[in-house]
Amino acid sequence: MAEVAAEKASSGGDVIVAVNPKPNRGITSKLIDLFEKLVVKLGYDSSQPHHYLSRNFAPVPDETPPTTNLPVSGHLPECLNGEFVRVGPNPKFSPVAGYHWFDGDGCVVFCSHFYIMIHGLRIKDGKASYVSRYVRTSRLKQEEYFGGAKFMKVGDLKGFFGLFMVNLQILRGKFKVLDLSFGHGTANTALVYHHGKLLALSEADKPYVVKVLEDGDLQTLGLLDYDKRLAHSFTAHPKVDPFTGEMFMFGYSHTPPYITYRVISKDGFMHDPVPITVSGPIMMHDFAITENYAIFMDLPLLFKPKEMVKEKKLIFQFDATKKARFGVLPRYAENELLIKWFELPNCFIFHNANAWEEGDEVVLITCRLENPDLDLVSGNVKEKLENFSNELYEMRFNMETGLASQRKLSESAVDFPRVNESYTGRKQRYVYGTRLDSIAKVTGIVKFDLHAEPERGKTCIEVGGNVQGLFDLGPGRFGSEAVFVPKVPGATSEEDDGYLIFFVHDEKTGKSAVHVIDAKTMSPDPVAVVDLPDRVPYGFHAFFVTEEQLQEQAKL
Ligand SMILES: [Fe+2]
Repeated sequence: MAEVAAEKASSGGDVIVAVNPKPNRGITSKLIDLFEKLVVKLGYDSSQPHHYLSRNFAPVPDETPPTTNLPVSGHLPECLNGEFVRVGPNPKFSPVAGYHWFDGDGCVVFCSHFYIMIHGLRIKDGKASYVSRYVRTSRLKQEEYFGGAKFMKVGDLKGFFGLFMVNLQILRGKFKVLDLSFGHGTANTALVYHHGKLLALSEADKPYVVKVLEDGDLQTLGLLDYDKRLAHSFTAHPKVDPFTGEMFMFGYSHTPPYITYRVISKDGFMHDPVPITVSGPIMMHDFAITENYAIFMDLPLLFKPKEMVKEKKLIFQFDATKKARFGVLPRYAENELLIKWFELPNCFIFHNANAWEEGDEVVLITCRLENPDLDLVSGNVKEKLENFSNELYEMRFNMETGLASQRKLSESAVDFPRVNESYTGRKQRYVYGTRLDSIAKVTGIVKFDLHAEPERGKTCIEVGGNVQGLFDLGPGRFGSEAVFVPKVPGATSEEDDGYLIFFVHDEKTGKSAVHVIDAKTMSPDPVAVVDLPDRVPYGFHAFFVTEEQLQEQAKL
């Protein structure tokens, strides 16, 4: 099917490339396997538990084919006709050694990660069906061929052991045991819809095209290289301008240029690369656009292979001595000559909510972290966050004076911010975030009103001030990123007139569900709850594919 799809060239530059890797399990492969076993035996402490492979972080063993007529409490509104999809790591084979939660999230340019499973809820005329499918990446196909894990993982990248694992990966590539010509792909972090295609994204690779079939089933068609114009990685958080239909993206690398910015036209043509100079090989997980600008974040989470080996640290290290830098570039610039850089106190940011322009100022609404430690999501993770904050912030960059300012809008911990995406890049009022009690567990969905002032003196996120609503999941229940679905598409109706849809897992019963809540009222009574036939592990980002988009992508 993928080959058939690949032959159906689309009208733009985003022809789907069939993914057919050719790995080799000859004698070289076996020799490298033996060497790996020896290195793991001598260099890896196997007594360490894999926190992110236990409880509801644990993978589900099998895919779930479309399961129809699920029990629905309440009613599923008509605007939810479509497919709600969420990605999450779901390793098919046990790791050889280490495992980091980001092994399910694309974060290291040359690393490979675990497979992604997409969990989908097809809603049609008040009825719901559930499906879960792997994205059939080059990596998954090759490890299926070998019947075991063969790609390196972020969790392995510590100390001399990490260096060995890097070199094993290089050896497997050099001797063509692994076929790296289709990337290391896991397509594992987020989903976006552009030019008639649903894309599964990881920031270390190219986008994979996933087709939603009529019964809600999910099929991987191949990847996009934009007529070979895409030669670098592709962020998991591109921005689609709802007014122009263009998609804006960047990729980061551990070799110069560390950041490359691209504009993709509404019909899928990728314009020339614009290299962006930053302070070093940084991790940049997200960026933002406004009507006229793109905003880049030069934050001091740096790729440090030497420290990994010498100091037995994870390969990405945060430098608390450096400032946070934000670059604002005219969004159609053909080079970086016009970029303006602003400095703010040291921080790291995974996710921005939105950005817009106000007079001379560019405004960024973001989730700002202090003291980030990626070790928190590796190995023996702490149950609660300590000496760590993750708060909603407003940042302002004055294009005339060159000055920047910031102010705190919430207590800790909030992340995975979403907005009504009809307002991407435009001034808007409401942000929907997730309240976290550890870096991976969502205990509630928060609605912020940016027109209201935050209440000072609070120690946790609760209703009042700019927290207009809080949907508390209750003891033992944990959620996922909530996506806003408007009752009426576009920006003509009230901005918060719609629903929030998200997955919920009950650790007491082991059951998973999809919740729909009223975004305007944030009522504690869900509009609808759909009981799912299988457990849905905790995962990453979600997306809602509208009925109109489903019809459009059905032509692929
Ligand atoms: Fe993300």
